[in-house]
Amino acid sequence: MSYPFQIKSLGQYHDAYKKSVEDPESYWASVAEYFQWRKTWDKVLEWNFKEPKIEWFRGAKLNITENCLDRHLADLGDKPAIIWEPNDPGDKIRVVTYKRLHKRVCQFAQVLKNNGVKKGDRVCIYMGMIPELAYAVLACARIGAIHSVIFGGFSAQSIADRLDDAKAEYIVTCDGAYRGSKDIPLKTVIDDALIGNKIIKRVIVYTRTRTPVSMIKGRDVWWEDEMEHAEAQIEKDDIVSFPAEEMDAEDPLFILYTSGSTGKPKGVVHTCAGYMVWTTYTFVNVFQYDPGQVHFCTADIGWVTGHSYILYGPLCAGATSLMFEGIPTWPDAGRLWEIVDKHKVNIIYTAPTAIRSLMGFGLDPLKGKDLSSLKTLGTVGEPINEEAWHWYDDHIGKRKCPIVDTWWQTETGGALISNLAGVTPAKPGWATLPIPGVQPVLVDENGKEVTEKDEHGLLKGNLCIKAPWPGIIRTTYGDHERCRTNYFATYENLYFTGDGAYKDENGFYRITGRVDDVLNVSGHRIGTAEVENAINMHAGVVESAVVGYPHEIKGQGLYAYVIYNRPHVDDELTRKDILATVTRIIGAIARPDKIQFVQGLPKTRSGKIMRRILRKIAEGETKNLGDTSTLLDPAVVDDIKNGRL
Ligand code: WT7
Repeated sequence: MSYPFQIKSLGQYHDAYKKSVEDPESYWASVAEYFQWRKTWDKVLEWNFKEPKIEWFRGAKLNITENCLDRHLADLGDKPAIIWEPNDPGDKIRVVTYKRLHKRVCQFAQVLKNNGVKKGDRVCIYMGMIPELAYAVLACARIGAIHSVIFGGFSAQSIADRLDDAKAEYIVTCDGAYRGSKDIPLKTVIDDALIGNKIIKRVIVYTRTRTPVSMIKGRDVWWEDEMEHAEAQIEKDDIVSFPAEEMDAEDPLFILYTSGSTGKPKGVVHTCAGYMVWTTYTFVNVFQYDPGQVHFCTADIGWVTGHSYILYGPLCAGATSLMFEGIPTWPDAGRLWEIVDKHKVNIIYTAPTAIRSLMGFGLDPLKGKDLSSLKTLGTVGEPINEEAWHWYDDHIGKRKCPIVDTWWQTETGGALISNLAGVTPAKPGWATLPIPGVQPVLVDENGKEVTEKDEHGLLKGNLCIKAPWPGIIRTTYGDHERCRTNYFATYENLYFTGDGAYKDENGFYRITGRVDDVLNVSGHRIGTAEVENAINMHAGVVESAVVGYPHEIKGQGLYAYVIYNRPHVDDELTRKDILATVTRIIGAIARPDKIQFVQGLPKTRSGKIMRRILRKIAEGETKNLGDTSTLLDPAVVDDIKNGRL
């Protein structure tokens, strides 16, 4: 088997790109032929960015799990769909074949049904990286429930906010999760999130760590009991397969919360058909996946990368996807390479932050690891610096594996700008060319396309996209206006990414990072306003301002300036208290790296914080702070400079 839509040469790339722009409807109709539809579409594309209203494959009926599972049973039934590597390298590996995955998904779909879950209901999933997480996600898709996976690092408060926003009535979780040396008490966090909650009807709990957990009668049930019951039912009724719900192309498939420039994360909504086509198309083309290869994406399924490139993209393509429960540095910094060796991994896809962190351990962890199975390397989540790129190329790929630098976002569903492994050229630090269907444009503040090159012959501007691709965000859950103002209102008739970029004479793009108040810490998106809100919740804090600064491993670190009004005896202790508050409100991932206590913040006469100045000081630039004459009280700047950490 090979993929009819696979681009295999530079010439084919240019042809496909041209077709996709000149006649998107016929291009995507031909790609869509690869998939299994209950009914095909009446119209391939209908859109305007004004509302926005975007419809792909209107009128089509399908279920994405029939594409991920049922369709492969005849040819690939006994082939591994998921290879699961446990946190502890000595524990038993699990190999889940397509047949087995299909069975478990059907069984858990029955469980969901037994517990009252119906099409359109929101199911929150808060689990570690175990095969049951995949079963839960796919079972939701099978019955048409909308899943909202929450990363295991988020706090009870964050979960409560997300449950509330999504109006979720069901939760699937675990007693606990193993991550490196840690045992994270997931069910306890859920219990905290549910204090006072009157909406949740059922919590299904899988046993992973056998941590003691409270089980509330009438609300909490064990996964194992439910599965056993469902199996008996399925056998009794002689149902070989739990029938998949027929979904409309534009029915929501999932919600995934992500940070923006306001204090409140937004629920990005992706729909069934377009997302399916986009993840599968980009998976095959970017990584140049060949049937039979083992694909290892190191992301957590709590982030979009895991949704698209551990689950939906690979499974729709009938691939073998490796799922890893643990972390790259445990029990030692050779763990990823040991996994590559053990499972003969062909494609590894990870974040620059992981590469930089492993680079810091030198070459010892690579000793004795056979990496010769590797064919393609990938990066995602943040700009990659040249040093890390070359280390990856030299020591992991042994200069024989193309590296794909995939630029995309939660909102884009899948990669938008990336080289195609071995097919289109790579350039260290550059995401390079747009994938067919993607029409980037660089604009200035006023939305005018930039045409003036800088002294290096590069165009520089804010990155926008001119037309929809199948995987584009459809709405923000429960608040369509928010979707419009966030992405479609900054510049007329353009999708605004929030990123800045360069374009070179070959049409290659280099993404430089966010131009809004969003930071990228270890490849995770964090809104400064969210962190400020959390810090401001701490008793004694009057005001705070959070900015990013370059961090050797994380890419960006969080630098917080805090006005604190209690006469604190011990700065260190107060810092720890503030960190504890942030951990409680958002989660450990949002803890500032540096907290500087200040007397005041640089504000304009209208009361706006001048972040530019704070950013410069955090970056270590104390001389050229630019124009400070509009400041209400220029003296605060000296105070801040003197107290810099
Ligand atoms: C932001 C999106 C895409 C899944 C993981 C992150 C940054 C992402 C790259 C890249 C430079 C990148 C952008 C983007 N980003 N990939 N290859 N080169 N920057 O998803 O949490 O939605 O964050 O990550 O700034 O806007 P996300």
